[in-house]
Amino acid sequence: MSRFIAFASGKGGVGRTSITFNLGVALSLFGEEVVMLDLDLVMANLDVITGLLNPDVTLHDVLVRDKSIDECVYEVNQGIRVVPTGIHFETLKHINPNYISWNKIMNEISDYGDIFLMDLPAGINANVFEGLPENTEAILVTQSTMPSVADALKIRILFNELNIKISGFVLNMWYDDKFLLSENEIESILEVPMIGLIPYDREVERSMALGRSVVEVNPSSPTSNAVMQLAADLLGKEYKPIEPNKEGIVGRIKKFVGLLPDE
Ligand SMILES: Nc1ncnc2c1ncn2[C@@H]1O[C@H](COP(=O)(O)OP(=O)(O)O)[C@@H](O)[C@H]1O
Ligand SMILES: [Mg+2]
Repeated sequence: MSRFIAFASGKGGVGRTSITFNLGVALSLFGEEVVMLDLDLVMANLDVITGLLNPDVTLHDVLVRDKSIDECVYEVNQGIRVVPTGIHFETLKHINPNYISWNKIMNEISDYGDIFLMDLPAGINANVFEGLPENTEAILVTQSTMPSVADALKIRILFNELNIKISGFVLNMWYDDKFLLSENEIESILEVPMIGLIPYDREVERSMALGRSVVEVNPSSPTSNAVMQLAADLLGKEYKPIEPNKEGIVGRIKKFVGLLPDE
């Protein structure tokens, strides 16, 4: 049976899209068939991040131009599939993004993968949320700051009302600072468990600028190991963190200062 995992945050800019993308790559490294979708018809950016800059057919074409959804499933790196949302300002006038049946769309593409990752729009979009597939597992994404946790709490309360199951929250862009909320404080505010802690890492942005995921570009970094661990936990699999190759670094320094000959 297909799994539908939705990332929600309330607040924008906390890393929903980055986590959708990086986790998608991580899950595919575990052998899963992954399909990613951006459920924000107005401010979609998953297509840009996955390198789909000018796809012929996008979800907007499917919604207003009688194109079939099969025409807008694209394969990107690691065999991951993406349904780009695109944007046509003209067609936005004819689409009410609040009344799209995501459930129907997800059903139509369910043959394209095992795990469907959905990047939900920021803010309260009760109608988008109500149209999610019934067996959706939602994951809240937050930073350690009060505004992002407060907005995640609004989503948690709304999802409870809508009977959307929440697996837990991912604490993203984490760094140690006594002025920020701790993992335990966030757990007691949101009343759901922390299922992933992704450190702040500039490599996330740099690798995405290259159209790649941090788990491919720098697999031994704490951030990549955290993303891989989250993927393993979601699949109920084991993951052994990849250690940085210290010997390699020492060898390169020794060669640099002339203590070791070049091969
Ligand atoms: N763990 C992280 N460390 C550092 N930067 C990150 C991390 N996660 C996301 N970012 C950066 O933060 C910015 C906002 O992330 P994005 O995924 O677009 O947020 P959202 O989809 O929630 O609006 C992007 O520039 C992204 O590269
Ligand atoms: Mg986003």
